[in-house]
Order: sequence, then structure tokens, then C-alpha cells
Amino acid sequence: MTPETAQQKIAELRAEVARHDERYHRQAQPEISDFDYDQLKRSLAELEARFPQFATGESPTGRVGDDRAEGFATYRHRLPMQSLDNTYSEAELREFHTRLGRVLERVELDYVVEPKIDGLAVSLTYEHGKLVRAVTRGNGVEGDDVTANIRTIKTLPDELKPVKDAPIPEVIEIRGEVYMTLAEFARINVDREEAGEPLYATPRNLAAGTLKLLDRAEVAARKLEIVLYGLGYCEPVGAVGETQSGFHALVRGWGLPTVEKTWTAPSIDEVWAAVQELDRMRRDFSYATDGAVVKLDPLKLQREAGGTSKAPRWAMAYKFAAERAETLLKGVTIQVGRTGVLTPVAELEPVQLAGTTVSRATLHNRDEIARKDIRIGDRVYVEKAGEIIPVVLGVNTAKRTPECVPYAFPANCPVCATPVVQLAGEVALRCPNYACPVQVRRRVQHFASKGCLDIDGLGVAMVDTLVDKSWVRGIADLYRLNRDDLLTLGKSVEKSTDNLLAAIEASKRAELWRVIHGLGITHVGATAAKDLAKHFGNLEALAAAKYENFIAGNKESVINGIGETMALAIIAHFQKPENAALARELSELGVNPVAPETAAPTGNRFAGKTYVLTGTLPSMTRDEAGAKIEAEGGKVSGSVSKKTSYVLAGAEAGSKLEKAQALGVTVIDEAEFLRMLAAE
Ligand code: IVH
Repeated sequence: MTPETAQQKIAELRAEVARHDERYHRQAQPEISDFDYDQLKRSLAELEARFPQFATGESPTGRVGDDRAEGFATYRHRLPMQSLDNTYSEAELREFHTRLGRVLERVELDYVVEPKIDGLAVSLTYEHGKLVRAVTRGNGVEGDDVTANIRTIKTLPDELKPVKDAPIPEVIEIRGEVYMTLAEFARINVDREEAGEPLYATPRNLAAGTLKLLDRAEVAARKLEIVLYGLGYCEPVGAVGETQSGFHALVRGWGLPTVEKTWTAPSIDEVWAAVQELDRMRRDFSYATDGAVVKLDPLKLQREAGGTSKAPRWAMAYKFAAERAETLLKGVTIQVGRTGVLTPVAELEPVQLAGTTVSRATLHNRDEIARKDIRIGDRVYVEKAGEIIPVVLGVNTAKRTPECVPYAFPANCPVCATPVVQLAGEVALRCPNYACPVQVRRRVQHFASKGCLDIDGLGVAMVDTLVDKSWVRGIADLYRLNRDDLLTLGKSVEKSTDNLLAAIEASKRAELWRVIHGLGITHVGATAAKDLAKHFGNLEALAAAKYENFIAGNKESVINGIGETMALAIIAHFQKPENAALARELSELGVNPVAPETAAPTGNRFAGKTYVLTGTLPSMTRDEAGAKIEAEGGKVSGSVSKKTSYVLAGAEAGSKLEKAQALGVTVIDEAEFLRMLAAE
């Protein structure tokens, strides 16, 4: 390679890596697999090493990615957050050990092997044992302050539990990884699929996207988790013992969530055995893992080994290549979701992949097919993204034949033939026909499903039949079913028909949240439906609600748990005439759901008083405090006004506290509140 071509190639690769960094770290929407990304970066590093004259200046090989996003305050880490060097090869892992041995002038070295969690890095600061801040890695030097979002993680204690004989450090930065469990990832994707919204490709993307939401209620509704494994700044120095393995034990002792298994290994052979054992057991972990991290165990030797600004010399990630397979793309079918979104699905020649047979994979949307230039008849690569949903990564173009034909995305809905539309700002194409039989089917199936009205006898197949017969053209028709019609469905169906009709009748008095959830409003899951039911008390009030009923002038939520994203989705839902009509029709048909019981007050200490709760209280959740207020005859409101009697403020209280101060409303803390509760 001539220096000229090398220079040009370096420039191209830098631009390419920078583009993928942006998609991965800032947008949480990677276009290529981790493996391909690592290879790209490696080619760049190799070229830069061969042609050092061009290795100067800004290169993505010399820095960690940058995850900083709009809307967050930035915070400077007391000690930079580094990345890790990685390899996919056993030989290179062994070289890492040899190199370290040379640097440290030792033959024997003790290591710790940990799972490499596929999430996103954060640094937590505890001062005198109390959580004061959570910051993302950012560019390694400074990151986004995501404390409020991190506090939604239920398994993360606000305060460290004392450990015998180990005083809690005055200040400690503890590093770890925020992730989403595979179960939670699946739950959210099922909701999105039902709603016809694009699916998240991996739990990591979903966790990254969630941590950077500005809508805290939405963050709380999607359960994030965290594990902690690393030490940053610590004062006094040495307060955490002398080894990485000891640090793990201490972190666990403090009550912090940490990795379920680590290995100590006194030789590189034992390191390799541990890595392989981890690979065998990692699918049982609640988080996705993409490798093993091998670290020197003695902290003193870690310090001695040092590192570059980007990565330590005392640690190395060994990454497990995601299993991928090549197979034939036989055709493309289109799935139509509840809201009419058309999703292209690859029909594949069945192939074995990570323990299962894969015969279908998602192609996401029309733009993805065009971008990857995927043609029917191609040999395509499939991979399980985050080990779960199979995706078509791309084409083996070397095997393309002239018979391979580009896929023409349908211009009409494959079910009802209505011309498809693309809404402004969306990549998806939709069938705009509200009466499209698939949409009707999915809407009714959702309404009748276990998580919603839970109507016995109204499973997926029964709904299909009712829609096929045109007896059901929408949810309301369930309440207009005719017994004589149903009896024509077969011989001796009398009993099942009567049971079904009784179950439908009983659903008229279902709990209100079930009906709200059943309407299939975008973003509104069961939890949000419960909050809405409690606040509005009936469907009519929810359908008529305006922006200010959800979000106060200072942008704070009026209803605990309901943020702006959801508020806008609810308003948009009921603005559609067919949805507004459904709410009215249901009521006319006698659907009269039961509002949640508000427990009758047992005392009257707070009668006539209105409280606003804000921030994190030391010993109880805001809901628990709210229940205590209501039990004493008081009211809880979501926004501060002159009529507010008290603002009960905890840590990280935001604009509600400011507003209370501006209006001269009395602000109390939890201790004061407890005194009021105990007062005679
Ligand atoms: S140690 C200076 N340990 O992987 C040491 N990192 O690719 C840096 N990661 O930025 C981190 N699991 O976000 C460490 N057990 C583990 C990890 C881990 C996941 C992440 C971390 C890091 C990235 C590097």
C-alpha cells in the first residue's frame, strides 16, 4: 500500500468509525454488529500503526465513544472512565498476559474474570455512604448527570449498608453497567409489536435509550437495572482493600447489586478455563453479556501497570462473537400491526443459530431493506441481536446471482388493499384503514387478552372467527354479539356460547385500568393505566383530558407516573374521532368499569390539607407517603399552587420545590412529616 492510499484509507476509516460511534453511543441505534465495528476499528488502528506519519490528530482509536446527549447537565468524573482493549482471539488474550508479565517483571499473576455486561457504563458517587450522583461515561472525562433516572432503579440502595471492619469511605466513585433484563426487553417489545411500533434491536439499545429519556415517569415505567463492578476515585485511598476480588465482596456487602459470578484465576490457563465456563453459563444471567473481562486482581499491580488515556493495561476484554449463520432468503412477507404498521419479515431457509432453528427474521422496514440492498434469492447473514430476535445483517454479495430480484415494498396493504401511507417523521409505512381486518383483529385480541379485560373464551382464534364472520368490526361490537349467531358456530356450543356471553357481560364491570389498557393507547401499559384510572376515575374524564390536566405550567407531571410523552399520546389518541366514539359507545353499551377504591381515611390529622410530594424521601416512596396523607384525610396533588398547604420535599427535589419557595408555600422534609403524622 502506498502512503497516499494509506492516508486516504485512514481518513475514510476514521469517518466511518466516527459515524458508527455516533449511532451507537448517542443514538443507541447501531447499524452494524459489534463484531464488524471492532474489526473496522482494528483495521484503522493497524493502518495507523503502519503509517505513523498519519496517526496524528483526532482519531477514534485514541478516545472512548461519547454518549453525551441534549438536556442533561454535564459532570466531570473525578477519575476518568476508561474503555477496555478487546480481542476475539485466545492467542491475543494469552499475549496480554505475557505482555503484563514483562511490564511487571513477574511470571505469576493473579486475575479476576468477570462477565462483560452489555449495557452502558455509569459512575455512581457515594458520599459518606449516600448516593449523591450518577453520571454516564460521556467522553470518558465528563458525562451526563443521570442521577434522577438512576434513582428509578429499585434494586439500587440510596445508602450503603455498613460492613463490619470496613469503614465506609468518605467519597467513592463506583462504576458499573446499566442494563435491562431480557424479560423487560421482551415485555416492552411485545407491547411495541402489538402497537405496531418499531422494535428495539437489543436490550442494550433499549437501556441506553431509556437512560437518556428526559421523561422520568417513562424511565420508571421501563425497569432499568444496574450491576457494579469497578472502582473509581476513593477517599481515603485504600479504603476498599487490596484486590479487585475483595472490592467485589465489599460492594456486595454494602448491599449494591453486583455480578452474580466472578472467578479468581492464578494463571492464564485458569483464566481461559473461566472464560469458557462463563460462555457456557452466561445465557442464564438476567443481563446480556458480550464477553469476559479479565482484570489483574491486586490493586497495587493495577496501579503499577497503568495504561493509556483510553484503556488500562491491566485489563482486557475477551469478546464472544455473536453466532451468525448464512442462509437463503426465500421471500419477504408483510406483517400488519395493531396500528397498521407494515413490518417486512424475511422468510428463510431454516438454519441453526445459537441453539434454535431460525426460519424468519425481521427486516425492520422498507428503508433498511434498501440500505442493505437485500434481494430475494440472496444468501443473507442472520444473527441473533442481543441473543434474542433474529435479524438479517446483510448480504453475501459474492454469492449473488442475476436471478436475485430487489424486493418491491407493497404500495397497498396486503390485507385490505388500502394504499399505504408514511406519516411525517416516521420510517414505517402504515395501512391507514382503521377498519382493516388485521387491525381490528389485533385491537380486539389485545382488549380481550389476559393483561386487559381478561375475557374467558375470547382467545386469539375466537376473535379471528368473530372478525371473519364480520360480527365484530371493532371492540364495541363485542357487546353487541348475538347469541343466535354464535350458536351457528358448531354443534353443542350452547354451553360455551353462554359462558362467553356471561364473561363479556361481566367485563362491563371490570376494573377501569383494564379498560384503559385495553384501548391500546401508544405508550400506555398496565402500570400507567392504573395511575390514570386512579386519577381520572372514569373513561369519559380521561378521554376529555387536556394537556394541562397532565402537565403543569412548569412542565412537571400532574399525575405521578405520567410524563409528557404519554400525555401527548393519550391526547392524540382521543383526538381521533374513532377513538372518541369508542369511549362513548362503550358507555352507551353499559360498559361501566369500576374505579379504583380510594381507601376511606382512618384519621383526620390532614383533613382539608393539600400536599405536593417531590424528590426522593429517605425512608419511603412518594406513593407510600401519599397513602399516609390520604389515610389522614389529606389530599395529594401533582402541582404546586397557592392552595397547596405543604410541599414534602426529599433529595433531588426539582422545580416543584422552587415553585413552593416562590409562592411562599411551607416546605417540609420527611422528619417533619413524620412528626405531623405522630402529632396528637
Ligand atoms: S471494567 C478501566 N468490567 O465494557 C476499566 N467494564 O468495552 C473499565 N463493561 O466501558 C471497565 N462489563 O462499560 C469493566 N465487568 C466489567 C464490564 C465492563 C461491561 C463495559 C464498560 C466498559 C466497556 C468497555
